[in-house]
Amino acid sequence: SLVPLILCGGSGSRLWPLSRAAYPKQFLALTGEASLLQQTIARIPAGAAAPIVVTNAEHRFMVAEQCRAIACQPAHVVLEPVARNTAPAIAAGALLALQADPDAVLLVLASDHVIQNPDAFHHCIEQALPAAHSGKLVTFGIVPDAPHTGYGYIQRGAASPDGLHAIQRFIEKPDAARAQAMLDAGGHFWNSGMFLFRADAFLAELGRLQPQMLAQIQAAVAGAERDLDFTRLAPAAFAACPSDSIDYAVMEHTQLGEVVAADIGWSDIGSWSALADILERDANGNALLGDVLQQDSHDCLVHANHRLVAAVGVQDLVIVETADAVLVAHKDQAQSVKKIVEHLQAAG
Ligand code: GDD
Ligand code: MG
Repeated sequence: SLVPLILCGGSGSRLWPLSRAAYPKQFLALTGEASLLQQTIARIPAGAAAPIVVTNAEHRFMVAEQCRAIACQPAHVVLEPVARNTAPAIAAGALLALQADPDAVLLVLASDHVIQNPDAFHHCIEQALPAAHSGKLVTFGIVPDAPHTGYGYIQRGAASPDGLHAIQRFIEKPDAARAQAMLDAGGHFWNSGMFLFRADAFLAELGRLQPQMLAQIQAAVAGAERDLDFTRLAPAAFAACPSDSIDYAVMEHTQLGEVVAADIGWSDIGSWSALADILERDANGNALLGDVLQQDSHDCLVHANHRLVAAVGVQDLVIVETADAVLVAHKDQAQSVKKIVEHLQAAG
């Protein structure tokens, strides 16, 4: 069976002040009525098994409520007592999927991305399934258009008959010079952070590369408790697990990687300006959300949550109003919003 495994434990600091530790990005409705998590669930291909959602214990009721609201009944809502990044989260989901089906193929999905063309995405999944069945670790590659340093880069290797490519090299979050060099060289994809592989194939590779991590997760799943609708990982075993992403822990090292080109209208909405790029705009290029008025303003993103916001004669600004904080930023500096969050965290 095809088992969607939804990673729902990130915090997303670059969409401050809307995203908060208590209310991360995946739970926000940024591009319509549904939250990003709900949109992720809605684009699961027809015929797939019930999803496994892995989240921080702190956010369990938000996940349960957002699933209920769209009539989704996950096979598991797996609760992490602490965040250990994506490799342990995926390993826990893989072990649980195997309990139900030894042939389970996992479709690992981030919970906080936008895909504007779900049909094309479904087609990519179909295309990648034979490779996944045969034991490959497949990722969905996005054609890069900027030297972004927040992504994994995939150097394309030999083509396979089904149209995928071997992964020659996987470089997670390169520095700016290296990112530019790969962009100039061509033949590279961004890693979308979504994966397709057999649960047993992933666990075998994780065990080979990160035996310590696999052992801790096996203990955390063996000691897991079903608590109402939640699957609570054994806290001590999970907390003792090393923290790492699938990208660093597995994808940078494995020889089993393959990539399918995914022209699917993908965005990870990594900043306010990335969100502005995918929202509908008015004739002046403004994306206006909520109770907003503009006069002679151009190419702004204005998001009002509690009060009327008016933007007059300004250009290329991001303005986000919430009950307790207001952000005013230049679009070109949207990435730096996370520095404000770091500053706030440091200040306690
Ligand atoms: N359950 C769980 N637990 N989920 C997590 C955790 C965790 O500890 N940490 C992150 N996640 C979830 C996030 O909510 C997100 O949906 C997904 O896993 C990816 O985590 P991010 O923290 O957003 O990763 P990233 O954006 O820095 O990098 C990844 O995505 C890029 C594309 O957006 C990598 O896979 C990069 O290679 C990739 O290019
Ligand atoms: Mg991300």
